[in-house]
Amino acid sequence: MKRKSLVVANWKMNILPSKAYELANEIKVLSRYSGVEVVVAPPYTHLALLSELRDQNFSIGAQNVHFARFGAYTGGISAEMLVDLKVEFVILGHSERREAYPSESDFIADKIGTCLNAGIKVIYCCGEPEKVRKDGDAENYVLSQLEYDFRKLTHWQERQLNIAYEPIWAIGTGLTATAEQAQQMHLNIRNWISRQYGINPSENTRILYGGSVKSTNVLAFAAMPDIDGALVGGASLDASEFNSIVSAFSEVFELPKGIK
Ligand code: PGA
Repeated sequence: MKRKSLVVANWKMNILPSKAYELANEIKVLSRYSGVEVVVAPPYTHLALLSELRDQNFSIGAQNVHFARFGAYTGGISAEMLVDLKVEFVILGHSERREAYPSESDFIADKIGTCLNAGIKVIYCCGEPEKVRKDGDAENYVLSQLEYDFRKLTHWQERQLNIAYEPIWAIGTGLTATAEQAQQMHLNIRNWISRQYGINPSENTRILYGGSVKSTNVLAFAAMPDIDGALVGGASLDASEFNSIVSAFSEVFELPKGIK
């Protein structure tokens, strides 16, 4: 099976709800004929509004979820609530959350289980800090994250699990891994899935790169065989910039007749 590219806009805690619909709609219109699957992940407060824009290639994602199904968890949002709003994806394990909430990493395994049970697709984030990369330990670090966070998973559901490799030192810094460094890490991750869960799940799983992806650097990443898309922060707040990133992963360069 050929992997369909996936490009995700992670808006983080940016954009007011009153501006969100317009930006999401612009992204949807621009990416319509790209052949790439596009996900917009706004703050929770915007999800209901944006969910009406969904179609086959354009989905809405949340940036986090609670591990429990229901209960006395003030401030929590459950996977079933997201499903009820037609949210199809959840970003889990983003380094900004792991850093701000030190216990976050302890709950990721349960959050993955909750999402899979509810039928939500996961965009699972992993990546090493700068010192680890400099010390030459990036591969061990990332594979240990996978071991720990997927420890409760008995079989890999490749249509629901997507991985985003995001070196922490590249997020929001303007620095990026080289396309070769990213490709190597993606291959390591793919090989890890293959060893744990088999070759087919591994071959069918989309692995995205994230960390200062922009229109000016995306082509090199898109050209790599194991880079199946991007998780985009800052550049996703500008529709035409984001569209250039989507286009880089597109194999459809000609628009249907009559469309300009
Ligand atoms: P960035 O963020 O593109 O602004 O570096 C990526 C991310 O955190 O997902």
